[in-house]
Amino acid sequence: MIQRADRLNNVKEYYFSKKLREVAALRNEGKPIINIAIGSPDLNPPASVIEAIQNAVELPNAHQYQSYQGIPELREGIATFYKEKYNVNLNATTEILPLMGSKEGIMHISMAFLNKGDKVLIPNPGYPTYASVTNLVQAEAIFYNLNETTNWLPNFEELEKEDLSKVKIMWVNYPHMPTGAVASKEDFKQLIAFAKKHNILIVNDNPYSFILNEKPISILDVEGAKEVAIELNSLSKTFNMAGWRVGMVVGNAEIIKTILQVKSNMDSGMFFGIQKGAVEAFKLSNEWFKSQNEIYTKRRAIVWEIFDALNCTYNQAIGGLFVWAKLPKGIKSEAITDELLYNKNVFITPGTIFGSNGEGYIRASLCVDAEVLNEVLNRLTTVKI
Ligand SMILES: Cc1ncc(COP(=O)(O)O)c(C=O)c1O
Repeated sequence: MIQRADRLNNVKEYYFSKKLREVAALRNEGKPIINIAIGSPDLNPPASVIEAIQNAVELPNAHQYQSYQGIPELREGIATFYKEKYNVNLNATTEILPLMGSKEGIMHISMAFLNKGDKVLIPNPGYPTYASVTNLVQAEAIFYNLNETTNWLPNFEELEKEDLSKVKIMWVNYPHMPTGAVASKEDFKQLIAFAKKHNILIVNDNPYSFILNEKPISILDVEGAKEVAIELNSLSKTFNMAGWRVGMVVGNAEIIKTILQVKSNMDSGMFFGIQKGAVEAFKLSNEWFKSQNEIYTKRRAIVWEIFDALNCTYNQAIGGLFVWAKLPKGIKSEAITDELLYNKNVFITPGTIFGSNGEGYIRASLCVDAEVLNEVLNRLTTVKI
């Protein structure tokens, strides 16, 4: 048997990749499983975006390799979007790199900046990919605690007690997934000051800023942020284009150039039609965000009822595509998740997949039609926990 690489020793298959196989098997047995676990938007992308990709496939250059840096029109669209929505100036030629989804950016950034043994600050709870990619590049994950008492924001006093000398990257993600916590500009200022003091690259992963969030902000809006911070962003949730795979990394030209050094060796450009679709998405008016958020607001009210039925508590003043709920004392996240899956045919996310601080919590997605959420509510009203 050929030995697999050592870099896989600390990396497991992605939770959803494994659990969805189990869900599929249960469905094959005839179980009517409802999935309220995953944040894959079920609503349609804007009509103008669909039309743009349809038109693009007729163009003669649509089928050729595309620029490693994305078409200029897309980078200009991103620059205008950042100016209008976040008040951030970006040079469309040097400070923007389109990505095939922000998830791949996590790998590119890690490969571009981390050597074996370098340390990386990773939120607990947080998006699992930060840690698995850190392990894949054989750097060392240092988990920093987020909890209710600090409203899921970094505790700098605690962080300062760590040996930070080998830390090169700190992942932050506000609005935060899974908790929905939102950072203010003041919070970002503190992060930038911390990064400057310790010479750390901050990467803010910002795919949720337009979902149920009154004031979208970018970490790059903080003065001097470009010296130490970059930002990942995505069209997956903002424009319901998760399967299209389109996002971007923006910030300091030198850093972007370094990331391109990795990325240009890994793919050969993004499909032209997707880029043309993305260009249209960035032109949409605020009506688009309003219409999406009206739907998510209605769905969230039903999810709150679902969590009431489970005797959970939750913070209503949060953003993003999920509701994060605290279980009654003594109930374990994975135990209740399995109970709901096997006894109620409802698949929900256990908080523990986001780290140890997710114990005692569960997460529900708003990417489910209101009617289906009501069916979940029906099924749950008889659950005893
Ligand atoms: C916090 C966070 N970052 C990044 C991603 C990846 O998004 P994309 O579809 O842009 O790769 C997700 C997707 O669920 C996410 O929740």
